[in-house]
Amino acid sequence: MNVLILGGGGREHALAWKLRQSPRVKSIFCAPGNAGISEVATCVPISLTNQAQLVAFAKEQEIGLTVVGPDDALAAGIVDRFRAAGLRIFGPTRAAARLEFSKVFAKEFMARHGIPTAKSGHFTDSIQAQLFASKMPLPLVVKADGLALGKGVIIALTHEEGREAIRQIMDERKFGEAGSAVVIEEFLEGAECSIHALVDGETALLFPSAQDHKRALDNDLGLNTGGMGTYSPAPQLTPELEEQVRTEVLERFLLGLKADGISYSGMLFPGLMLTRDGVKVLEFNCRFGDPETQVLLARLDSDLLDLLEACLDGTLAQQQPTWKPGSAVCVIAASGGYPEVYETGKVISGLDAVNQHAVVFHAGTRLENGKVVTAGGRVLGLTATGPDLPTAQATAYAAVEQVHFEGMHFRRDIAAKGLQS
Ligand code: AMP
Ligand code: GLY
Repeated sequence: MNVLILGGGGREHALAWKLRQSPRVKSIFCAPGNAGISEVATCVPISLTNQAQLVAFAKEQEIGLTVVGPDDALAAGIVDRFRAAGLRIFGPTRAAARLEFSKVFAKEFMARHGIPTAKSGHFTDSIQAQLFASKMPLPLVVKADGLALGKGVIIALTHEEGREAIRQIMDERKFGEAGSAVVIEEFLEGAECSIHALVDGETALLFPSAQDHKRALDNDLGLNTGGMGTYSPAPQLTPELEEQVRTEVLERFLLGLKADGISYSGMLFPGLMLTRDGVKVLEFNCRFGDPETQVLLARLDSDLLDLLEACLDGTLAQQQPTWKPGSAVCVIAASGGYPEVYETGKVISGLDAVNQHAVVFHAGTRLENGKVVTAGGRVLGLTATGPDLPTAQATAYAAVEQVHFEGMHFRRDIAAKGLQS
């Protein structure tokens, strides 16, 4: 089968790397891809906003399955467009992806179906929002309704900060139309972790847990990023809490889909807060996480194509994927200045020196005159598995030491929380 992957980051490299191992996969294409992906797939320079060209390409190359990486492509209805053209594509439709691209919709869904989440209110009128926020205990959390590149969540320590956040999101439209509504919610304390589950409408097939590190600097300091590193499993998600995820999040999610008439097929990746009162859902993502996918697929022993196809065929209940025991760790090497302004075009050295126990997933890279150069904020994801977390962590960091580019920065404490718990 020929496969097309949409996207060009570390998540898509991990998807391509894993699908390359499937004996049933013939050619892999990736739009737009990156330098690392071009080692396992043919990269095609088609923008994800050009849906007509993507459909034409998929027909021309007899693509048997397309896999969508990023959220904005789902929100733009890429799945609906491919299906209308009779093409097989992995991911939820625009109507179902609304669970990610509208936080108001997600909160209403959770409230209707008893899925545990932070107490909240939501508003399309900024005066009403200000009134509600002024009565909230501190800290309070202000969230833009729509997609805002991971920047639309503000934790306000004072009511003044809360007022300012609502003003910027709603009145100034700092994140554009994503700010036409806001969710204002209570602050939850606890450890954060995420789960992934394939959902075919009837069954939710749970993957191992993972934990991301969102802040740019060690000890969770600095600005929020797309994610500076992950490890799996996250020991904070104890078997008791995992059971709660199954019964109170996934089972209720499936029942909720049926009750609301939402047809959902694809990955569900909820962000969770493990609070003193149990698991609470922070948000739903309707796609694979980045860089969660890097550690999850590094641990997956089974054929990913089988799982993706079972999801589309509604036969997930028959799948029993196997996972490498032990742990996986992914450390992101980022451009100097990320997540604020950074330069690109820096030559990356040492990629060949990374030992065979680690995998280098490329995120923001491209080829220039035969050399691999930086092309984004997050550049590489150095990923290693091991029989236990300390070994996987040491192997990933040994790989980080091998690579270099001007301005490279990375966190030195990825997986440290997993070792403490
Ligand atoms: P979200 O996009 O909703 O996952 O929010 C982004 C980040 O903001 C999360 O990963 C959390 O670190 C933080 N966050 C979101 N909602 C809350 C909340 N209610 N309490 C505490 N932290 C939160
Ligand atoms: N790592 C967070 C995300 O993919 O949304």
